[in-house]
Amino acid sequence: MHELIAERSNTLHAVITGAAGFIGSHLADALLAAGHRVTGIDAFTATYAEARKRANLQLALGSPHFRLVQADLLEDDLTELLRACDVVFHLAGQPGVRDSWGTDFDQYARRNILATQRLLEAAAHAQSGRLVFASSSSVYGAVAEDRLSESLRPQPISPYGVSKLAAEELCFAYQRSFGLPVVVLRYFTCYGPRQRPDMAFSRFIDAMRAGRPVIIYGDGAQERDFTYVADIVTATIAAAQATAIHQPINVGSGAVVRLISAVRLLEELLDRPARLEFKPLQPGDMRRTSADLSRAYTALGYVPTVALAEGLRRQVEASISQGDG
Ligand code: NAD
Ligand code: UGA
Repeated sequence: MHELIAERSNTLHAVITGAAGFIGSHLADALLAAGHRVTGIDAFTATYAEARKRANLQLALGSPHFRLVQADLLEDDLTELLRACDVVFHLAGQPGVRDSWGTDFDQYARRNILATQRLLEAAAHAQSGRLVFASSSSVYGAVAEDRLSESLRPQPISPYGVSKLAAEELCFAYQRSFGLPVVVLRYFTCYGPRQRPDMAFSRFIDAMRAGRPVIIYGDGAQERDFTYVADIVTATIAAAQATAIHQPINVGSGAVVRLISAVRLLEELLDRPARLEFKPLQPGDMRRTSADLSRAYTALGYVPTVALAEGLRRQVEASISQGDG
């Protein structure tokens, strides 16, 4: 997919919001490796250590084709930043399902809804190219179907899911009213090197290596369509070329596993047993996520390539060599 963009228009100028984050930094690396120019915007919010986010950008910052702009989508002037770009990848936001209740929702509303509206406004005025938005499987919430298809009506069960759904709708409103070309992607639980420290595998690997208990919310039977970060990046770059469509597109792995089975894989990879500590199921947590990938295949030519055992092996390896979990 990366080569295809290069063939069509030689070098693209891509803007990535949230470029210092887990997925944004991998996207920057992949675009730069394919010969494109990248402007990365990030506010280095305090959700986790700034040093960790800066380390995510280590490779990108070594490229003469990468520019880092420390800016907040909620405050800074965005129109100039977007004026000369071919595509905007909008990944900045407040992630995390379980922390979105209570007074913390304020940050979710601001960073996921208001920030997206400001960016869309600027993109429409700057006549920047395509905008690709990183939405979430969390929008499905209480949908009981075995496979989550984009044609099902979302029923979010977390404030985070509500904020991402609202942001999706904003994207489509700007598409309908201003002709801004958008592609909305619904990522399913992403993992791999540089995974955020609040996410399950990151926490499990850190705990197991330190001999601390692995905290399992609920009985561990919850199921996830865990998606390796390189597959997410491939789909995201493909979305820069796809015909803009007025519906969201799932990006998953094509396989579903129980959380407890993933812990067993980690035990093999780390060659030590996990000490499990069960805690109550967290409000907002979906019981099962499983992506229907037919639209991703038709619209993006997307086929996931990395199975969980291999992806986890890479995440464990990175955590050992870089002290990242
Ligand atoms: P991350 O927290 O590692 O990256 C997000 C980045 O956005 C951070 O570096 C943060 O500093 C930046 N940011 C936040 N608000 C900003 C603002 N107002 N202005 C500028 N920068 C700002 O998260 P991630 O896991 O890489 O997720 C990236 C995106 O994908 C998020 O929008 C998230 O909701 C979405 N998503 C992630 C997953 C997943 O499994 N990781 C799944 C579905 C959707
Ligand atoms: C992830 C991301 O964190 C969200 O930003 C994203 O939007 C969402 O995926 C998505 O797919 O849309 P989540 O599925 O909760 O959310 O991912 P993890 O944090 O990796 O959690 C996976 C499962 O492990 C959850 O059931 C969670 O409750 C459980 N978990 C997590 C534990 O049992 N223990 C922990 O210490 C952490």
